[in-house]
Amino acid sequence: MCGIVGYIGKQKAAPILLAGLAKLEYRGYDSAGIAIMENGNIEVQKDKGRVSNLCEIKEIENLQGSIGIAHTRWATHGEPSKTNAHPHTDSKEDFAVVHNGIIENYVELRKELEGNDYNFKSETDTEVIPNLIHYFYSKDSKNDELKLVRAVKQATDKLIGSFAIEVLSKENPDIMVVVRKDSPLVIGKGYNENYIASDIPAILSYTKDFYLLENLEFAMLSRDSIRFFDKDLKEFNKKSDTITWNAMAADKNGYEDYMLKEIYEQPTAIRETIGTRVNEGTCKFDELNFTKEYLLGLNQIYIVACGTAMHVGLAVKSTIERLSKIHTEVDIASEFRYRKPLVDEKTLCIFITQSGETADTIAALKLCKEKGAKTLAVTNVIGSSITREADFSIYTHAGPEIAVASTKAYTSQITLLVLLAMYFAQILGTMEKQELENIIKEMLVLPNKLEEVLKISEQIKEIAKQMYKEKDVFYLGRGIDYATAQEASLKVKEISYIHSESYAAGELKHGTIALIEKGINVIGIMTDPNLVKKTVSNIEEIITRGAITTVVINEKIAQMLDTSIFTNVVKVPETEEFLSPIITVVPLQLLAYYISKEKGLDVDKPRNLAKSVTVE
Ligand code: G6P
Repeated sequence: MCGIVGYIGKQKAAPILLAGLAKLEYRGYDSAGIAIMENGNIEVQKDKGRVSNLCEIKEIENLQGSIGIAHTRWATHGEPSKTNAHPHTDSKEDFAVVHNGIIENYVELRKELEGNDYNFKSETDTEVIPNLIHYFYSKDSKNDELKLVRAVKQATDKLIGSFAIEVLSKENPDIMVVVRKDSPLVIGKGYNENYIASDIPAILSYTKDFYLLENLEFAMLSRDSIRFFDKDLKEFNKKSDTITWNAMAADKNGYEDYMLKEIYEQPTAIRETIGTRVNEGTCKFDELNFTKEYLLGLNQIYIVACGTAMHVGLAVKSTIERLSKIHTEVDIASEFRYRKPLVDEKTLCIFITQSGETADTIAALKLCKEKGAKTLAVTNVIGSSITREADFSIYTHAGPEIAVASTKAYTSQITLLVLLAMYFAQILGTMEKQELENIIKEMLVLPNKLEEVLKISEQIKEIAKQMYKEKDVFYLGRGIDYATAQEASLKVKEISYIHSESYAAGELKHGTIALIEKGINVIGIMTDPNLVKKTVSNIEEIITRGAITTVVINEKIAQMLDTSIFTNVVKVPETEEFLSPIITVVPLQLLAYYISKEKGLDVDKPRNLAKSVTVE
């Protein structure tokens, strides 16, 4: 978490840095700060709160410097406050640093530095970094052009933990040094100017040419050059990548919030994700060279992820099992990695992560690699950290997702994994050709069906008006609809702060029904004709106890039921069973969105959360 931006060029740095921070605010938003190289001095301005607070600081307008670094914080060590906000300087104020990550051994380092006459102002782990740099810089008697990068390397050698760091130095006013380990950092190449950011969207409007810095690679930037050094400070040439996302994709584009925009982008995101992967009734994954022999030899597939991405695993588990006949397990990354999972060279481990940066997911992948399993990353961000660790990577093409609550990434990930399940089935011959063709046919019309669903937003707005003052809400479903219930429940929790629970409908009577009383809102999701009668019986049990019920059903189900017993009926188009979570989740994403709006909350930046969780 935390977002960092940097600029070195000929323009005024402050406006570029502030605009970059605003775009990165989804990574953290409890304090923000900026440091500009101003006539040989490092000017630092920072404040508690959002980037908009920082923008109001009058002195920033007067900063003319064309080199600077900036930070938006999600607090880990030390409360959100002006003092704890970045940039941090060493006690002699010769260096300024912004940092994303966690320094695990900062207490010991701080003690050592205090013993060497360094004073500390903040409670952060970060403040040891500029002081360490000062320590090594002042000890170095060699005054050559690499002195700063040498000091940064010696300082980072002492750090245990994760970091993406930008460094300014008073004695070196025309350069900047950056380095990363287990926290993301990209460098954007311009003409006579260069940019740095945690994520590409922050600087996408300035350049499309990026260098993706690898772990423990150092870069020394000037206005017209970028020099790269490996972990032993051996200089090397690095190839840049060109990003195809357009800058508009990272803007709100007329929508009130990123989340609403991203909900409405789902038909396009799914179309793009399917892309050219289907061809004449078959699924193509040319980047995976899986053979029938390899797939037959698998003892199981493990899907590991966090948050919404983990719910994707739940939504596709039975699809993979039913189509490919391979036993599939789903686990939360932070649990999986600590419970000695039964993974070996006969296991295929799939890691789903929108950002490709989630620390627990990456750590779980490393563990599986150690155990000899093949690892496959499913991500939305080309070149993200996980893609550099995994044996194979496949991409959703949802475009940048900025709102903290994930929407278009979720539906795109399900789409890609259903395609993957069909690809396995094709190789293994576990599916009839006709069945495969039917799913593909249905998948190709899915974006149009989503466009239909998006038309019911007025009805959803009305339901949100009925519900927004509630303290609790329950979501129920069976089978694949239970996965949707879990994701829908997370959405409402994340952005509207209503306590919500999701239950497998049949499990309700084993405890949760004790919580149902008059006026409680319960949302049921029913798309499977084989299970609907059973779920309706469960819902009737709660109607008897006075619950207010909203159901999400398709046309076929509507014909099977007397829908007059429900308070609200949300109808969505019918689709293939395996694809139904992609449709049913959409009205429930909208419901969470409109409840949050009714409550007057910040939809895109819910309290205490961050989009990329790069700490464990
Ligand atoms: C955070 C976000 C969630 C997201 C989860 C996993 O908790 O707030 O929206 O689902 O991280 O993120 P990933 O990038 O790994 O999909």
